[in-house]
Amino acid sequence: MSEPLILGIETSCDETGVGIVRGQTLLADAIASSVEEHARFGGVVPEVASRAHLEAMVPTIRRACETAGIKPTDVDAVAVTSGPGLAGALLVGVAAAKGLALSLDKPLYGVNHLAAHVAVDTLEHGDLPKGCVAMLVSGGHSSLLSVEDITDGVVPMGSTIDDAAGEAFDKVARVLGLPFPGGPYIDKAARDGGDRLYVTFPRGLTSQRDLERHRFDFSFSGLKTAVARWVEARRRDGEDVPVNHVAAAFQEAVCDVLTRKAIDACKDRGFEHLLIGGGVAANSRLRSMAEERASAAGIAVRVPRPGLCTDNGAMVAALGSELVRAGRAPSPLDLPADSSMPI
Ligand code: KG4
Ligand code: ZN
Repeated sequence: MSEPLILGIETSCDETGVGIVRGQTLLADAIASSVEEHARFGGVVPEVASRAHLEAMVPTIRRACETAGIKPTDVDAVAVTSGPGLAGALLVGVAAAKGLALSLDKPLYGVNHLAAHVAVDTLEHGDLPKGCVAMLVSGGHSSLLSVEDITDGVVPMGSTIDDAAGEAFDKVARVLGLPFPGGPYIDKAARDGGDRLYVTFPRGLTSQRDLERHRFDFSFSGLKTAVARWVEARRRDGEDVPVNHVAAAFQEAVCDVLTRKAIDACKDRGFEHLLIGGGVAANSRLRSMAEERASAAGIAVRVPRPGLCTDNGAMVAALGSELVRAGRAPSPLDLPADSSMPI
């Protein structure tokens, strides 16, 4: 049998993504983002996101099919993110996927957003390693997952106990007067002559005592507050805030904790592969630090290209494809959207 042709729909946050893959080959990855509509609020507004998904859904499906050079009737299965994410936003994608699957008489696969972030790597590097730790760092999540077989799901090892890593980037960017979403701006400010050693910001949950209870968990809210306090004190004293240095020092603290714990997780599981995904995986310092520290520990790092790390439809199609290829059963047509879906 030829490789299955899968259409994947992603609407868990502010990106309407429709991806089309054949087997592990990416044919189209159409995205419509409402990020600009949210920018003036400094964060994603759920109601605005749902409406934007509704408007973008059909044109984005059409664009993906055109790019892939296929007709909707050609697809073998429809995959969709059914959780976790914003309830109203998820509902739009799930309803669209059900409509498509029903009208085309093709199977429907509801997939977990986090597992899809892991599966997208197959589009760049082929089959996933037999065992790997996946670190997912985005605006909504910061998790360490143990992955043996992606079609069996993923097992959580730890996650943030407060802010997600991307959220910390976005909040600190706001403190520094940088635009939303702040991650790429902090990354750039740090690269433009930022001194990472200018000030040492706290590394959450790394003390011996914290490690006993939270070995693989993260905490970024204390770090965010520490940066805000430091900046406020400077401003109060009438001094300039060296944005590039603060950005670099903050980024260093985040990347230090993330890479340390991710490598420890690999060692704990006896895995020789670390996969990094989610929007923050686009961070240049995270990539270089992970490479450096992992290679010193004999661990190989796999990071999909930045465009595949952020939310997109291709990752959903990629996981759908793995499920179909593994002969997994499809979801029922009354598949619910589950905003707090466990991993
Ligand atoms: O995966 P994603 O697109 O959406 C969520 O599921 O959240 O991730 C978005 C997050 C935002 O917080 C954004 O600031 C962050 O990823 N981000 C970055 C970079 N590019 C995007 N954070 C740090 N450095 C970057 N280069
Ligand atoms: Zn995501």
